[in-house]
Amino acid sequence: MPEPTIVLRIKRRESASIEPYWEEFEIPYKAQHNVISLLMEIRRNPVNRQGKATTPVTWESNCLEEVCGACTMVINGRVRQACTALADNLPQPITIEPMSKFPLIRDLWVDRSSMFESLKKAHNWIAIDGTYDLGPGPRVRSEVQESAYLFSRCMTCGCCLEACPQVNSHSKFMGAAVIGQVYLMGQHPTGAMHQDERLEAMMGEGGVADCGNAQNCVEVCPKEIPLTTAIADVGGQVSRKWLRDIFWK
Ligand code: SF4
Ligand code: SF4
Ligand code: FES
Repeated sequence: MPEPTIVLRIKRRESASIEPYWEEFEIPYKAQHNVISLLMEIRRNPVNRQGKATTPVTWESNCLEEVCGACTMVINGRVRQACTALADNLPQPITIEPMSKFPLIRDLWVDRSSMFESLKKAHNWIAIDGTYDLGPGPRVRSEVQESAYLFSRCMTCGCCLEACPQVNSHSKFMGAAVIGQVYLMGQHPTGAMHQDERLEAMMGEGGVADCGNAQNCVEVCPKEIPLTTAIADVGGQVSRKWLRDIFWK
């Protein structure tokens, strides 16, 4: 009887300017393999299913426990983290593609820096005026702490942008993750002091008005962040700011 194997079908591309192609690999079965450990097997022995020597597949990963978001890719048609995609739970051949909404670097590795640029554009941090001991922070109600905890789990993985029809080559929409962080920062008493700057970014190009309310983002978020709550709330904050700006400036 033949030894059991795991078959992978990987979309490969040396760079964004080169046409993509599919390459298959057959790895000896081991229980508990995840997609990253399978890619590591290919790196150890870069030979494709036809027995031809090939280049090792390039990807990005870091924490290996679904915390950093770096290993996000499209596996069997669903965007998710490769480190927690167990081969035992995936129908074969396992198809693996890079995310399509970010510039491709090579093979499965994409450049997610647009998300970090959007976070900067939307002033998504809480400003302090020095590194000395500022004393205890303001008291925060427990309901606010619970909600903030949900949003603080965002790992900038990009799943919500990949699944969003409004994020495409014709739009500058920043996507749900950034809106979630605007909502999070505004909940903190110190963060709320700069919420107007964040809302300014949300009112501009690529802001919250570009959301089409398709709700795909909330379906795919691996951290189950209630993104649509943030989108509705930040949309309301933007409308109130717009009225304030008209009548009080
Ligand atoms: S609700 Fe729809 S359009 Fe809005 S961010 Fe989520 S997926 Fe995109
Ligand atoms: S909101 Fe969820 S899907 Fe979007 S980047 Fe954060 S963790 Fe990933
Ligand atoms: S390696 Fe960090 S989420 Fe997978």
